[in-house]
Amino acid sequence: MYFRIEHYAVLVAAMTVAQGARPPEDIERRVNALLARMTLDEKIGQMSQSTSLKTPISEQIRDEIRRGRWGSFLNAGSPADRAEAQRIAMKESRLGIPLLFGRDVIHGYKTIFPIPLGQAASWDPELVSLGARIAAQEAATEGIRWTFAPMLDIGRDPRWGRIAETWGEDPYLASVFGAAMVQGFQGDSLDASDSLAACAKHYVGYGAAEGGRDYNSTWIPEILLRQVYLKPFQAAREAGVASMMTAFNALNGVPVTGDRFAVHQILRTEWKYDGVVVSDYEAITDMIQHGYARDARDAALKAVRAGVDMEMVSTAYFDHLKSLVQAGQVSSTTIDDAVRRILRLKFRLGLFDAPIAAPATASITEESREAARRLATESLVLLKNAGPVLPIVGSAGKMAVIGPLADSPVDQMGTWAMDGRAEDVQTPLSALRAALGRDRIVYAPALKSSRDLSREGFQQAVKAARSANTVLLFLGEEQLLSGEARSRAFLDLPGAQEQLVEEIAKVGKPTVAIILAGRPLTFHDVAAKVGAVLYAWHPGLMGGPAIADVLLGKATPSGKLTITFPRTVGQVPIYYAHLNTGRPAAANELGIPMGNPVNPAGYTSKYVDVDFTPEYPFGFGLSYTTFAYSDFRISGPVLHAGERLTVSANVANTGTRAADEIVQLYIRDLAASVSQPVKELKGFQRVHLAAGEARNVTFSLTSADLAFYNQRMQLVTEPGRFQVWIAPDSTGGLRGEFTVR
Ligand code: BGC
Repeated sequence: MYFRIEHYAVLVAAMTVAQGARPPEDIERRVNALLARMTLDEKIGQMSQSTSLKTPISEQIRDEIRRGRWGSFLNAGSPADRAEAQRIAMKESRLGIPLLFGRDVIHGYKTIFPIPLGQAASWDPELVSLGARIAAQEAATEGIRWTFAPMLDIGRDPRWGRIAETWGEDPYLASVFGAAMVQGFQGDSLDASDSLAACAKHYVGYGAAEGGRDYNSTWIPEILLRQVYLKPFQAAREAGVASMMTAFNALNGVPVTGDRFAVHQILRTEWKYDGVVVSDYEAITDMIQHGYARDARDAALKAVRAGVDMEMVSTAYFDHLKSLVQAGQVSSTTIDDAVRRILRLKFRLGLFDAPIAAPATASITEESREAARRLATESLVLLKNAGPVLPIVGSAGKMAVIGPLADSPVDQMGTWAMDGRAEDVQTPLSALRAALGRDRIVYAPALKSSRDLSREGFQQAVKAARSANTVLLFLGEEQLLSGEARSRAFLDLPGAQEQLVEEIAKVGKPTVAIILAGRPLTFHDVAAKVGAVLYAWHPGLMGGPAIADVLLGKATPSGKLTITFPRTVGQVPIYYAHLNTGRPAAANELGIPMGNPVNPAGYTSKYVDVDFTPEYPFGFGLSYTTFAYSDFRISGPVLHAGERLTVSANVANTGTRAADEIVQLYIRDLAASVSQPVKELKGFQRVHLAAGEARNVTFSLTSADLAFYNQRMQLVTEPGRFQVWIAPDSTGGLRGEFTVR
């Protein structure tokens, strides 16, 4: 499937159908009629979201629901609690306004899929969309109708723990995957009982935290904000995303949750966004710590003026909005607009009309497991395969399975898997045992966890390696080292893992490192000591079977990186779509030993103690077969405004195995009124090729695809020369040139 920006149009059409299942005029009429009957207290109640729905539901909460104190609960209650709370809201409150139950359904609900950064490596938006659909069905079964996903932050700093939740570093990819996920969650019709309202978060700039420290300040010039950070949100808006969440961070000195420019000006006025805007967790009162609000009253004033409709967890709205309205500092229109958006969402979801469902439990099915297995398989990225060591042929004798992540269920799931259960996970060890039989596997965890510093288990691991024909080392980072508030200043394998690799390498058996992590790690020396490296992210509950399939050659790896892997943390931030600078480093300046300064040479932009290139570039991933690119063609030398240019190449599978190749389209604007990146992704296709098969892969480009923001913040395509590549990754490929007139 070939993804381009125009595909949003298809998604938008789908969502328009979705929201149009009930005619919009009808919804507007009902919203206004209801609003006219509401007291100010009830309105502010709708603008308030809480976690305090606990089992058993307290008398106080029952009473508050009856009084319309809450519009929504998040991450709270059991299915039975939610059904009961909904009954109270709809049957015992004055106006019968239903509650909206939200939850962090990030990469699966019961069926846990790979972390988003892993899903992105599949370059398969359709499969990602299917994963979101399955998650929606499972969550909706248990009474949840709102998810706080997709996360659309751009991640260019692997120190930041939440990079695990991103689609990587590229705004085009984040846009495509974000839209695909929105469609999966929201389905064909938002008011279907198995649809979830999606929430694009964290609006905006959260991923650019200084030093990769979570919640930290971001300084993003408006031109970069529009060119990179806002793009995926705009795409989600086009795809009909039902809500957005404001971020924790201050953007250029102003916490986004109180930023009228970001929320009111861009989102509401420029994009005409009419969905709900919810704050992040206590982000409204956090503005006091930020030094942007004097107190909770001031914070409520700033957030509501910015355009935040609902307050998550803190209670500044409930405590202060009424008196702010009475004092004339907040207009009743501002309140009504916010409440209108919340009610509109509840109507769109069909909550007013649906019968109160009896509590039910979602279960994992064979189909959901199969989808999780496919997505995990496609997300695996083969980074090295010398020899080749992989795939391991069936007759290859005994295997030593070593390492702290071979059999740790929770670590397979990764961050944000609160509804995933350890007992549902098939670990790599269990999958390999199932595939090969128990007696062909010798298992030695060697370390108790990825952070374990003790070498107590090394001896047994070395013994296991000696007894086997092949060694499979499961290394990386456990679940709790990535995700929210999990920033790292070191990107190498924690604990005594590097020492473990050293000991095992001495045994001299063919060795494969399978690295599970929530971020790009640095493992230069480890990679040098093993024959093959398979990057597995946190692959979800079917990660084990997916890894076993790839190791044993039942599946061919096809994933490619959507984030640049640095050689060392000191190179961060490092990303493919950088500007060229006036003094770019050149290929003949490579060869600098890592960490060992050389005599300075050449006045170019680089380091004296490490090569300027990354360890593994954006778009990179190996296969068990080889592909050859040839016959590059452009339909014409000139692209006129409003016209279309076709770019094509022949891609051949020159090996002996059927495989998927992810073919990428990049462009570069050679001279513009604002310097443009050295490369920018503009399209991709995942193509399946049988052994020996060749296919013509065609992309098209319009002048709109080449547009960028100029200094006056206008989206323009300027005339001039462009380069274009069809490539297997961001560093190679076939290149041509055309001119825009
Ligand atoms: C996170 C959000 C999440 C929210 C609710 C916050 O701490 O930043 O991403 O949706 O909590 O759990």
